[in-house]
Amino acid sequence: KKVVLAYSGGLDTSVIIPWLKENYNGCEVIAVCADIGQGDELNVVHDKALKSGASKVYIEHLTEDFVANYVFPTLKASAIYEGKYLLGTSFARPLIAKRLVEIAKAEGADAIAHGATGKGNDQVRFELSVKALAPNIKLIAPWREWELRSREQEIAYAEKHGIPIAKENKTYSMDRNIWHLSHEGSDLEDPWNAPKNSMYLISKAPEDAPDKAEYVTIDFEKGIPVAVNGEKMAPVQLLETLNDIGAKNGIGITDIVENRLVGMKSRGVYENPGGAILYAAHQELEYLCLDRQTLHYKETVAIKYAELVYDGMWFSQLREALAAFVDATQETVTGTVKLKLYKGNICPAGAKSPYSLYSQEFVTFEEDDVYNQADATGFINLFGLPLKVRALMKEKAGLK
Ligand code: ARG
Ligand code: SIN
Repeated sequence: KKVVLAYSGGLDTSVIIPWLKENYNGCEVIAVCADIGQGDELNVVHDKALKSGASKVYIEHLTEDFVANYVFPTLKASAIYEGKYLLGTSFARPLIAKRLVEIAKAEGADAIAHGATGKGNDQVRFELSVKALAPNIKLIAPWREWELRSREQEIAYAEKHGIPIAKENKTYSMDRNIWHLSHEGSDLEDPWNAPKNSMYLISKAPEDAPDKAEYVTIDFEKGIPVAVNGEKMAPVQLLETLNDIGAKNGIGITDIVENRLVGMKSRGVYENPGGAILYAAHQELEYLCLDRQTLHYKETVAIKYAELVYDGMWFSQLREALAAFVDATQETVTGTVKLKLYKGNICPAGAKSPYSLYSQEFVTFEEDDVYNQADATGFINLFGLPLKVRALMKEKAGLK
């Protein structure tokens, strides 16, 4: 009787409102719009939900929660999907789902609905997150049920139900929040087509960036960025500042053919100016502060962590356990990193930490007292013993 809908204000989720009422015997639809820095006019979104037939609208300001509790933990894990994608859409879904569940419980709703298609990852992320938080609530995915097969049919349906149609000429399927903007579809569906510079809505194309390099310094405390150019900033302000600096310098555009969880490959172009700077800076600091074994082990954790986030497994036991491991590694990831930004490139320009494991004194070719060069003889003999044993065996057996 009561359905809570993840509402964006776009055509798809607007059409879903009357569709739910028609197909779920006159149910009441409560629209919930999560503000995570997508930059939409939220009062317009609010009014559009009501005009589309929602009985109630929630506009939820979740940007701070998003950055502090979803973006930064993933950054600390150095999690990147398939070597390129900074997971901007992936970790927004569990946050939105969590709020949907809270509202559904408060409203005594029977079901949660979303506007993700039946071909994508987002349906999985919404639904797995809801299952993890409210195991008994019903899920409704209109895209997997309705007969609407094209944008024209959707518009016709919207017109029939008195939904205001914005004259947006949206070429790409996009998803935006404070962390990123994704572009999929249209000419990008052919991986031979380079992305058009005119497509970028946040970043400058590298060739349009200034001819002079810009330096930026970032301070971290326990793996969390806390200041830019010496100025302390709260997470949201810090990310906005780095988005501006990065965008101006053409930083953070990635182009990938990625493996969707649901089987097919898809092509996406992402704009992630601040995110790219933060990942690069955090990495530089880890080079100083993590010992060899921890750094290497963490690299394998990062791959698994990214896969879990991508797959919608945010609220899983393994993601939580890996996050605890990551937190333990970040105890000493505190310090300052300097980067040089130039036409889409990020170049390390210096790093320092009170917990740095790097010791000029030990690495120097001059005399020192911790490292006795003669010790290396025994070390190499034992470390190389398996190689020697194998070579002896080969000689004896006449193998090449
Ligand atoms: N391919 C990316 C992902 O799976 C981006 C998805 C964008 N979603 C959207 N509704 N436009 O995370
Ligand atoms: C969608 O299908 O709703 C967007 C793309 C995706 O979820 O991967």
